[in-house]
Amino acid sequence: MEVTRDRAWATLTRYTTSESLLRHARAVEASVRHYARLLGEDEEAWGCAALLHDFDYEVHPTLDEHPQDGAPILREEGYPEWLVETVLSHAEHLEIPRDTPLMRHLFACDELSGFVHACGLVRPTGLDGLEPKSVRKKLKQPSFAAGVHRDEVYAGAELIGRELDEHIANVIAALQPIAAELGLRTA
Ligand SMILES: [Fe+2]
Ligand SMILES: [Fe+2]
Repeated sequence: MEVTRDRAWATLTRYTTSESLLRHARAVEASVRHYARLLGEDEEAWGCAALLHDFDYEVHPTLDEHPQDGAPILREEGYPEWLVETVLSHAEHLEIPRDTPLMRHLFACDELSGFVHACGLVRPTGLDGLEPKSVRKKLKQPSFAAGVHRDEVYAGAELIGRELDEHIANVIAALQPIAAELGLRTA
């Protein structure tokens, strides 16, 4: 089957109704697409894998099930193995080697997209004017967006060979065009 954004969105929304999960999917998609453009990779393919990475989280909310029990569903829907493997690889507990650029960028964008989103939500101007430096400062405050795994943010930047500030700036730039969809204020 041909992997298209429409198809990926249909799969995602068949299993996900939560607004915050849909926003997370959109945010990670935008960040991964941004990197695909930067690197001259297949933006549609990268974006679809990112959009679907947590597609089963609402029906499989524990690590006993997510994302491994989602994989058979994706296969049944006809998604190619590279996409299924990419989705599986974002989960730390499955310890799948991230041996493609897409796998590495998905991992790198997953936690950081959520964190930058959270930073934007507490600012009167959303993402406008948000500097990597202040994101880094917030990363050091354990109580802020406490659910975001800091170690995965740092490991992600390293995995894609970027300075943390550069990676943060890229994610901010990626999320800015969809700020309104993410419920962020825009200037
Ligand atoms: Fe996940
Ligand atoms: Fe995620």
